Amino acid sequence: MRGELRVVADEVELWSALADLFVAEAREAAGSSGSFRVALSGGTTPKGAYALLAQEPRRSQVDWGRASLFFSDERCVPPDDAESNYGMANAALLSKVPIRPEHVHRMRGELPPEQAAEAYASVLRDQLGDDPVLDLVMLGMGPDGHTASLFPGTSPVGEYRLLVAAPFVPKFGSHRLTLTPRAINGARHVVIAACGAEKSEALQRAIEGPFDPSVTPVQVVQPARGSLTWLVDRAAAARLDRR
Ligand code: 6PG
Repeated sequence: MRGELRVVADEVELWSALADLFVAEAREAAGSSGSFRVALSGGTTPKGAYALLAQEPRRSQVDWGRASLFFSDERCVPPDDAESNYGMANAALLSKVPIRPEHVHRMRGELPPEQAAEAYASVLRDQLGDDPVLDLVMLGMGPDGHTASLFPGTSPVGEYRLLVAAPFVPKFGSHRLTLTPRAINGARHVVIAACGAEKSEALQRAIEGPFDPSVTPVQVVQPARGSLTWLVDRAAAARLDRR
């Protein structure tokens, strides 16, 4: 397995550990380069961590003025839609911290998918250069082994030219917007957070099974020069030989 495996007791401990990892990376990046560029994950797992970052003591531990926020993926919906990852992060965190609005770069899910993907790739290149290096990419993992919006059997799983893709995801009957493996694996640090027994089978496949990203897309997360942390709770780790 590539990366460090951290097993915590439960979801609440995972939220604390994820929030503390965010604070540590923010301090490290702001101290070394003067800015902290992070891609937030969607879904439900990180919500509790975002809430912890929005309150003391962690709120004051991040220099929000030096932070630039990006997103790992987004649903093809407007930002005020209940399904929006931006909407979730804004409610839980962004609206509660002194981050500069111009430093929040949401994927524009309200645009036609391909146009939104091209627009976001331009944002990444404008902000971070042609080979973007994010300080931290936060990811989750679905019970099917997807991460971001890299789903089994969809083309972006093998995308190493584009930075952002807009795959049609049959299981939802809709498009998604997602960072590609190229954009994810350029990061200094990637954290994959997963909790709950429903993730245990996919986690075992991802970490201890054969390498087959078409079946278990999260396996494409292999930072080229950066580090990878699997942050999971005991229920998700239950099927692992190594815990
Ligand atoms: C999304 C996420 C997705 C998520 C996993 C896990 O847009 O839904 O980016 O990749 O991280 O599906 O979701 P949960 O955290 O809700 O289990």
